Amino acid sequence: MTTIALMIRGWDPSEWADAITKELPDIDLRIFPDMGDVSEIDYALVWNPDAAALCACRNLKAIFSLGAGVDHILKHEGLPDVPIIRVVDPDLTMRMSEYVVWRVLDHHRMGDYYRDRQQAGDWNERTQPAASEVRVGIMGLGELGRDAALCLSRLGFDVAGWSRSAKSIEGVHCFDGDDGLKAFLARTDILVCLLPLTPQTTGIIDADLLAQLPQDGALGGPFLINAGRGGSQVEDDILTALDAGTLQGASLDVFRTEPLPEDSPFWSHPKVFVTPHCASASAPSPLCRYIGQQIEKMEAGGTPDNVVDPQRGY
Ligand code: NDP
Ligand code: OXD
Repeated sequence: MTTIALMIRGWDPSEWADAITKELPDIDLRIFPDMGDVSEIDYALVWNPDAAALCACRNLKAIFSLGAGVDHILKHEGLPDVPIIRVVDPDLTMRMSEYVVWRVLDHHRMGDYYRDRQQAGDWNERTQPAASEVRVGIMGLGELGRDAALCLSRLGFDVAGWSRSAKSIEGVHCFDGDDGLKAFLARTDILVCLLPLTPQTTGIIDADLLAQLPQDGALGGPFLINAGRGGSQVEDDILTALDAGTLQGASLDVFRTEPLPEDSPFWSHPKVFVTPHCASASAPSPLCRYIGQQIEKMEAGGTPDNVVDPQRGY
């Protein structure tokens, strides 16, 4: 019998237990911290796992991240030397594209201004640029960035993306590598970050990067949307740019410390829209269908999809 451990911290594991049991009814399911003899565990399904408990599972065949990101796993040392598999699933991708489109449209259609005008009972229209005049730049053109770019392009925005390796996506201006970053930023009015957290992307959204965004775009200055990882942002630099007016506004779904501390200035900042790391929530049912298929594939002797490269960090 296949033994699966759910090692989840910060989320309720019960829905995940139901969903994986529905997909694979014959498994022996263990739920952290009650994992019995850990040498019997074949597969660990993890979100923000306890490092010692995960490292103790010495006979694992694979570790599954219950999300797209794997920084919550790779940050630990001494992990079992087995494939780490991440989620790539249309449900997760579509949820992220919804979030990105929502936040881009809210900044583009001057949501803050009109909410404010409504409070004041003021019937006062502002000139609205066309989407084609607004340059959206997406950092990270992977599973999520690519789909968001295509959705925004379909809405008529002038979309660009930046990735590590060169890409070609119809209707999207593609930039890559350190050499492409400057030109990418110079044509970005709304910057969207969908990068994984790696040593190279840690702190990448800093004062220097923000200063390269143009001030003369159709929206009167740049906006920032971060739904990648909070570790990619230098939060004091974002606040400084907002207060100086060189950044018009920000939609932040991720933070260096989560949950966002009570005393964080982001909570009450008039130019910041905060969401609690829910841009694309991991939904147990579709994600366990995907994981169930991967486990069945491995049990039949096949190679799993979407194995991360620990050296690259994503
Ligand atoms: P992918 O691995 O498919 O894509 C990552 C993209 O980032 C790739 O295009 C990659 O380039 C690019 N990239 C990585 N490092 C660099 C670098 N140093 N310079 C330039 N580009 C780089 O990941 P996903 O699209 O599936 O997910 C992205 C991230 O979104 C996740 O890692 C996670 O952190 C975050 N996320 C957040 C959620 C939320 O609710 N807030 C939900 C889900 C994910 P290349 O293509 O060349 O490899
Ligand atoms: C993910 C996340 O990585 O939800 O999937 O952050």
